[in-house]
Amino acid sequence: MADFVGAVDQGTTSSRFMIFDHDGNEVAKHQLEHTQYLPKPGWVEHDPIEIWERTNVAIQNAVRTAGISATDLAAIGITNQRETTVVWDPRNGRPYCNAIVWQDTRTDSIAKALERDGHGDLIRRRAGLPPATYFSGGKIKWILENVEGVREAAEQGNAVFGTTDCWVLWNLTGGPNGGIHATDVTNASRTMLMDLETLDWDDELLGIFGIPRAMLPKIYPSSHPEAFGKTRTSRPLNAPIPIAGVLGDQQAATVGQVCFTPGEAKNTYGTGNFLLLNTGTEAVRSEHGLITTVAYKFGDQPAVYALEGSIAVTGSAVQWLRDQLHAITDAAESERLAKTVDGSDGIYFVPAFSGLFAPYWRSDARGAIVGLARFHNNGHLARATLESICYQSRDVVVAMEQDSGVHLDVLKVDGGVTANDLCMQTQADVLGVPVSRPVVAETTALGAAYAAGLAVGFWRDTDELREHWHESKRWEPRWSEEQREEGYKGWKKAVDRTLDWVEV
Ligand code: G3P
Repeated sequence: MADFVGAVDQGTTSSRFMIFDHDGNEVAKHQLEHTQYLPKPGWVEHDPIEIWERTNVAIQNAVRTAGISATDLAAIGITNQRETTVVWDPRNGRPYCNAIVWQDTRTDSIAKALERDGHGDLIRRRAGLPPATYFSGGKIKWILENVEGVREAAEQGNAVFGTTDCWVLWNLTGGPNGGIHATDVTNASRTMLMDLETLDWDDELLGIFGIPRAMLPKIYPSSHPEAFGKTRTSRPLNAPIPIAGVLGDQQAATVGQVCFTPGEAKNTYGTGNFLLLNTGTEAVRSEHGLITTVAYKFGDQPAVYALEGSIAVTGSAVQWLRDQLHAITDAAESERLAKTVDGSDGIYFVPAFSGLFAPYWRSDARGAIVGLARFHNNGHLARATLESICYQSRDVVVAMEQDSGVHLDVLKVDGGVTANDLCMQTQADVLGVPVSRPVVAETTALGAAYAAGLAVGFWRDTDELREHWHESKRWEPRWSEEQREEGYKGWKKAVDRTLDWVEV
C-alpha cells in the first residue's frame, strides 16, 4: 500500500515537487528556479525545455530526500502557473519558441482588437473573461501569426498547444513516445477558448482567434483516476505512477485551503496575488471587474466555479526592489527595511508593470511611485511596496463583496509573502478583517495532491480533507477606521495617476 502522494508545482519562478502523507503533512520537497527572459519591455518568456528538465530533477531529488521509492506514491498531481503558453512539435518535443508567460503584454493589440471588433461581450459571456493580454488565446494567436511555419504545422497536426501542466504531463507520460496531450477544466478556463457551461472548446471562439482545434489538448476533470495516464517507465520515476490530478495553481490553492463551500475564499500571495471565492455549481458573472473561472471538477461531480480577483504584481514587486533597484538583497529584507520606518508617510507605489489586472483591467497603466518628498528613503519605499500588495488585495475584496454580497469574516491566506509578518499585519489593517494562515502554507502543491489522492481513493472525500486544515497564525486589524479609509483614499488616487500611461 502506497503511503504518499506527490505533486508537481510548476510555478512562474520555479518548479518543485512535494510529497505529502495521509494527514496532508509535507514529507519532502525539492525546488529549482528557472530563467526569466525579459527580451523587451512588457515581454516575459520561459524556456520550456529548462522547465521540463528542472521539474524532472526536482521530482528525483524530492523522492530521494523522502527516502522512499517511486512505488510508495499512490498518485501524482500536477499544478501550474496558468495561461503561460507553450507550442511544440509533438513529433520530437521541440518547442517552436519560448513560452509566453502570463505576465507578458505583447498581445495588447490583439486584446484591443477583440474589443474593437465587437467580440468582447461574447468572450465575457461564454468564457467568463475580459479580452486581456493575460489569457492564453491571444498568446496562441500571436505565435501562429509571428513564428514562422507554426500555422502550417498546426494545420497538419505538427504544432500543439498546452499550458505548463499540459507540457509537463505530455513529457512525464512519454513525450513523443505516446505522451498524453491533455489538460483540465481549470486550465482550459483561462484561455478565452472554453465555454464555461459545456466545459469544451468553443468553435465560435476558436473561429474568432483563428486557432485550429487540432492544436488543443483534450479537457478532463481536475481529478480523474485514468484520464491523465501514468508516468513513463524511464526518468524521473522509472515506474508507472498514476497522474490523477491536474489543476491551475490558484485553483489548487483553493482546494488546499479546503474552500469547498460556496462563500469560502482564499488569497494566495505569490508573484502575483489571486483571490478566489467559491460560488458553487453556478458560474456567477462579475459586474465589478472579477473573472469567472472553474475552481475544480472532481470526477463525474458537477464543476464548481469561482469568482477570481487576479493581481499581476505583488511578490514580484518585492523581487523588483531586489533585482532592479538593489534596495534589498533578499525578500525577507523587505520586512526589516520596512520596519525601519513607522509608515509610508504619504507615498504610494502602484506596481502596474503589466498594466493593471482585476478589478481595473487596464493594459494602458504603468507603474508609479507618487507622493515623494526629499524626506523619503528606502524604508518608506519598502513599506509602500508591502502596502501595495495589501491595497491591491483590498481592491479585489471590495469587488468580490459587491459581486457576491458575501462579506468576509476572515481572509484565508497562503503563499510565499505570508511569511512576511509586517505585510500580513498590514493586510489585516488595510482590510479591517482578520487574516488567517494555515499550518501547511504550501497549499498549492497540497491541493494538487488532494485532487490526485481523491481520484485514486487515497483520501475518502472532501470532509476528510477539511480535518487536515489547522490555523497556524492569525493577524487582527489594528488601524482605526479613519486611518484605514484615509489610506485607501490615497491608494485610489495613486491608481488613477497610473492609467492612460501608454498607448495600446
Ligand atoms: O495566473 C497566473 C498564476 O497562476 C501564477 O501563479 O504562483 O506561479 O505566480 P504563480
